[in-house]
Amino acid sequence: MKTTKVKHLFNLVLLASAFTVSAQEKSISGIVTTRLVQADGQTTAFVLVDPAKPTVAVMATGDDAAALFPRNQVKLTGTTGAGVFGSALPVKTGSVAIGETNQPFKSQPITVAVFKDATAQAGNYVQLTGVTFVADKFDASGSAQVKAEDGSTVGLIVGAGVAGRETPKGVTDVFGVVVKSGSEWKLVAARFLPVNRREMQALAATATCISCHTPDTRLVGPSFREVAASYRNDPSALEKLVTQMQNGGVGKWGQAPMPGLKAAVPLENMNKLAAWVMSYQWDVLLAE
Ligand code: HEC
Repeated sequence: MKTTKVKHLFNLVLLASAFTVSAQEKSISGIVTTRLVQADGQTTAFVLVDPAKPTVAVMATGDDAAALFPRNQVKLTGTTGAGVFGSALPVKTGSVAIGETNQPFKSQPITVAVFKDATAQAGNYVQLTGVTFVADKFDASGSAQVKAEDGSTVGLIVGAGVAGRETPKGVTDVFGVVVKSGSEWKLVAARFLPVNRREMQALAATATCISCHTPDTRLVGPSFREVAASYRNDPSALEKLVTQMQNGGVGKWGQAPMPGLKAAVPLENMNKLAAWVMSYQWDVLLAE
């Protein structure tokens, strides 16, 4: 009898110490893949700590939330708790430190069919290739449905930044993190890119744009993501970008001039290039 009691006590002590261990602060470092700004200002970000493992959901507000921008390399401290999509790491205020920005990482291709039961993909950063948006606009909560060629659909969770905006037109690749929301598997979207982007990259090479621009980082001229971000709320963005390509310009982004390319690049190609540059606006809108 006595030994059982002692054993029980010993087990209790073990349990208690296991609990202390799991509730302890934990430091992680990795790349932010996706973030979702909720209505109450709370932000959930998905951090890729190990490319072979699912992302880690972290929660933050204020400056910490602002630092959790996609493609930032971050280091942070948090304590395991409950999040919107299961377990998450609420971060200790002021603990998020940014290292490099614009860090690349890989996505795994996935099909719409997998979303019937995506348990095996939970938390993974994936790419849904060749889908189209069901509705012309995002709803007021910033959600949308995309459909595959066979007509089956997946729900996207996007966030306040896109509420009421027009959805991308044409065939799109959607990138994001697989989550369970209520009883449904959904995708917290991080990027929308047109499927013809490789063709556009080739066109940009022929038109010499890539000697001065890249989509992601600043060279002689601004990155296309920066340009798209600054014009994201301008309804005449496409015309303005085409005018820049035709006539060139200087002083908007720095002291380096862009030459006018009217003689070298047909207008039809400039229109296509302008649409491609503006497709990078989603990177910013989805994180807002
Ligand atoms: C010789 C280098 C060079 C080439 C070639 C070049 N650009 Fe630029 N581009 C620049 C520079 C520099 C700027 C910034 C100009 C400024 O500060 O106003 C710029 C600005 C831009 C902008 C931003 C315009 C704005 O209103 O903010 C766009 C869009 C752009 N370039 C697209 C292109 C495309 C598309 C091509 C190919 C057809 C191209 N550029 C070719 C150097 C170049």
